[in-house]
Amino acid sequence: MTGPESEGTQVRRAVCPGSFDPITNGHLDIISRASRLYDEVYVAVMINKSKKGLFEIDERIDLIRRVTAEYGNVRVEAFHGLLVDFCKQREIPAIVKGLRAVSDFDYELQMAQMNNGLSGVETLFVPTNPTYSFLSSSLVKEVATWGGDVSHLVPPLVLAALGERLRGD
Ligand code: PNS
Repeated sequence: MTGPESEGTQVRRAVCPGSFDPITNGHLDIISRASRLYDEVYVAVMINKSKKGLFEIDERIDLIRRVTAEYGNVRVEAFHGLLVDFCKQREIPAIVKGLRAVSDFDYELQMAQMNNGLSGVETLFVPTNPTYSFLSSSLVKEVATWGGDVSHLVPPLVLAALGERLRGD
């Protein structure tokens, strides 16, 4: 074995979970900041069979992998079921979430307390960069659908994929 575990120190792992349909600059900001705080960061893309997204899960994963390639310690995986099970299977003790505004807090607090009660996993809240405090994947899709400019809100690769998908290419 090589790396920190062989030297008797624990690898510090965290997960950034979400739907990522598609990944935005707001997500990327949180993932990049988590990647500086932890040895390994998992981006967990939730599979929700009851909700068809604009992008298939594999497409979302591919986009996330490409835009996070510069961070050497980020891994991207799909998950189905409870986030705490994803964490247990990979020995991840921490969930990192961005908080955009006070309105995010109520639901995020409920989930954090539920997840902690289920398995002891901790949730760390990171205040979103104010540049992205209004940003969500849903709004990006809506604005892009009607021809609005979202080039400052998503990475160029995602902008291209959005354009192709919305034009029906
Ligand atoms: O990007 P989203 O849609 O806001 O992400 C929500 C997500 C995926 C983080 C949340 O719905 C989740 O953790 N779902 C997994 C199912 C689960 O563990 N539910 C119990 C939460 S307390």
